[in-house]
Amino acid sequence: MKVIILGKDGQLGQCLSEQFASAEHELHTTTYTTQLFAKSECDLSNFQQLHEMFLTQAPDVIVNAAAYTAVDAAEDNAQLADTLNHKAVSHLAKLCREFDSTLIHISTDYVFDGRGNTPYSESEPTGPQGVYGVTKLSGEHAVTASKCKHIIIRSAWIFSEHGSNFLKTMLRLGSDRENINVVNDQRGTPTYAQDLARAIISTLPYIASDNCPWGIYHYAGNSIVSWFEFAQQIFSSAKSLGLKTPEKVSAISTSEYPTPAPRPAFSALDSKLFTQTFAIEASDWRAAVNKTLAKIIQ
Ligand SMILES: NC(=O)c1ccc[n+]([C@@H]2O[C@H](COP(=O)([O-])OP(=O)(O)OC[C@H]3O[C@@H](n4cnc5c(N)ncnc54)[C@H](OP(=O)(O)O)[C@@H]3O)[C@@H](O)[C@H]2O)c1
Repeated sequence: MKVIILGKDGQLGQCLSEQFASAEHELHTTTYTTQLFAKSECDLSNFQQLHEMFLTQAPDVIVNAAAYTAVDAAEDNAQLADTLNHKAVSHLAKLCREFDSTLIHISTDYVFDGRGNTPYSESEPTGPQGVYGVTKLSGEHAVTASKCKHIIIRSAWIFSEHGSNFLKTMLRLGSDRENINVVNDQRGTPTYAQDLARAIISTLPYIASDNCPWGIYHYAGNSIVSWFEFAQQIFSSAKSLGLKTPEKVSAISTSEYPTPAPRPAFSALDSKLFTQTFAIEASDWRAAVNKTLAKIIQ
């Protein structure tokens, strides 16, 4: 099977690159050939370039790890966010339908309104609060409407040793501040990007066997925390590894830390459907915090 990954320089893209380069996925009988594209090599918003990629590469599977991911900046750049997260995804899905390729598309917990208090299942109503969530939800709808073979995976609070993410922001702040305030009234399910990459790869044998249950899935962390509790876990692990941590970490409310984009108060995802369907565990994000820190200080 020929697998193409879009967005190879993002944090998920880098994890996918590493895992495809390792032997892990060769446990399965199918051989996977991968081709990875950075934005400079295949710009999602360049529809002609996308079309040529299908013509020249004839992919069996496309993993779309590229997106406009700047949640706050999206409020002022709604058109660009919509172009990348919706219109380009719509075009990609139509190409997948035309060329009979399977699309694995990544979406977000921010498609929910956050008024729930138990982990969201795939069938629950959506209600995005900001431009980013609205455009990602439009992208999902476009994939479904295209009738291409697809798996949409909603994930949440992604962190890793690569790119920019909350864990790395906390480490940076912790290294030069003694007091840090972190929001304690938004709760979610942190997800290690390497676990998400593994989850994506776990779907390939099902796709190869033509026995894949298409649709929307959730894949995220195995327990729920607030950003404050997530930060506490990061600093506790960092301290045990001898890294500098702040003297005091204080819990604050969202109203004390206003951001341009509203965020859901509760966006934990229930990964049960995915883990049962594709026989893989939800992300053990607490263990992954240690692994990530160890890789960062290597
Ligand atoms: N990060 C999270 O907490 C989170 C949570 C839930 C869901 N997600 C979803 O998970 C997926 C992966 O997120 P991530 O954290 O890995 O994002 P990321 O690190 O921001 O990576 C996004 C990638 O998209 C690329 N990109 C941007 N514009 C592009 C264009 N016009 N053409 C081609 N590529 C383009 C970027 O390239 P450059 O680096 O060159 O700009 C970057 O490599 C996204 O769909 C995101 O919506 C993320």
